[in-house]
Amino acid sequence: MVRRDGAAFFTASKLGALGVLAFPSSLKQSIVIFRTGSGRGLSENTPPSHQTRTGFRFAKAVDFRTFRGAVLPGGGTPLPAPKPTLMSSLDPATSLPDLVADAAAGLKNVFGVEATVTAAAPGRVNLIGEHIDYCDGFVLPFAIDRYIVMAATLNGTGEARIATALGGEPAVLPLNIPQPVTTPKWANYLRGVIQGFQDRGHHLPGFDAYIISSVPGGAGLSSSAALECCIATLLEGLVDTVLDTKEKALLCQKAEHDYALVPCGIMDQFASAFGKTNRLVLIDCQTGEPELVPFENPDLTVLIANTMVHHELSDGGYAARRKNTEDGLAATGKKSWRDATMADVETVWEQTGDPVNRRSRHVVGEIARTKTAAEALAKNDYEALGPLMAASHDSLRDDFEVSCKELDLMVEIARAIGRNGGVIGARMTGGGFGGSTVTLCESGKAEAIAATLSQQYEAATGIKPQIFASRPSQGAHLVQH
Ligand code: GLA
Repeated sequence: MVRRDGAAFFTASKLGALGVLAFPSSLKQSIVIFRTGSGRGLSENTPPSHQTRTGFRFAKAVDFRTFRGAVLPGGGTPLPAPKPTLMSSLDPATSLPDLVADAAAGLKNVFGVEATVTAAAPGRVNLIGEHIDYCDGFVLPFAIDRYIVMAATLNGTGEARIATALGGEPAVLPLNIPQPVTTPKWANYLRGVIQGFQDRGHHLPGFDAYIISSVPGGAGLSSSAALECCIATLLEGLVDTVLDTKEKALLCQKAEHDYALVPCGIMDQFASAFGKTNRLVLIDCQTGEPELVPFENPDLTVLIANTMVHHELSDGGYAARRKNTEDGLAATGKKSWRDATMADVETVWEQTGDPVNRRSRHVVGEIARTKTAAEALAKNDYEALGPLMAASHDSLRDDFEVSCKELDLMVEIARAIGRNGGVIGARMTGGGFGGSTVTLCESGKAEAIAATLSQQYEAATGIKPQIFASRPSQGAHLVQH
């Protein structure tokens, strides 16, 4: 649930809705379901099926105090609970201004200081182009309107002291020394980015900071990339510099490689750094150049369905897939997957053997599908995305083997709703092994589709999914004070 062994923060949904808190390493694999404003964990009411199916350990009643749905470290005065909203299957996002206000209030509550620099960075969802960013492929993600926000101010010391909305002791990071990989694990993302700034010769001033998030953790929506891009943007503000956006994204990717030990591609950090309102981020991963593609048709809605099933990329599955693709490419004798064809894969099919040959088939097929999808989008031919998304999911399930039964189920439910029910296309999104699906649908039918996804998924699994609509949103940025 806590992706890549690390930070995952959650800001709760409105009164009456259920929220999920993902804890950092100390409580790794624990999860608390709570009702905003109740101040008590609901684990007693949690069906046992949740526990067994997800592998999560549900905490006993947890003593915490709500703070617009998040948790106040060390106590503090909770803000008034938001007004109840009409029941909907769609989980509402806490607005960015609310997150910013909550981060400032958290900073004041923990450290007694006012925020002078605030940064925000979004998670991402990928429409198509999965597991090919490290194969010179094309990917088509966008920044979602769920953010990690850090509010900070200089503290006159040589240390960064960083608290989170999850509570617990603030992490204390001595600056301007080589950053170690250590505990708390969630802070390794921060250490990696701090190291990146040091490597570029920046002398970092001490600061106090408070982190709050509305990006679901462990859901395949890149909460870790959001955290990296958020601290990088915050540091830009604190040292009064502006990195080239591509350099910033690559610095964050390196932090992920070196400090979270996940050999990820460039998609997540590029989407979080380059995201723009109403634009998809089409990335040519061979040249490393992003292109912003308009996506503003109000008749289209992107539904994200978090299966609530554990997503952890640092446990080896991701690295193993990446290695498979390297072996597959070597067998074809090509320099880049961009030069390889399906005929090349078939020629060496026996030689590469299973599963490398199937991994290779996925890579070549997915690169072609993503190119076709981008061409279709350029012509506003959204219908063409349906079969491409379906083929992408099937390939990830059968050939790349990064799906799971819960993701397959969510996609099957969307498929059964079908085009007449308003569904254009559906597939798993992100690294896989759990996480979320993405469903492209007609806006007028999105609520009904979300309700069906939610009801049928919960009926079959006993797990309540988190479903929300998202539109392409602004990437990492400093918030004006
Ligand atoms: C994770 C990685 C990305 C990408 C996706 C799969 O999100 O961080 O670089 O490889 O998986 O498409």
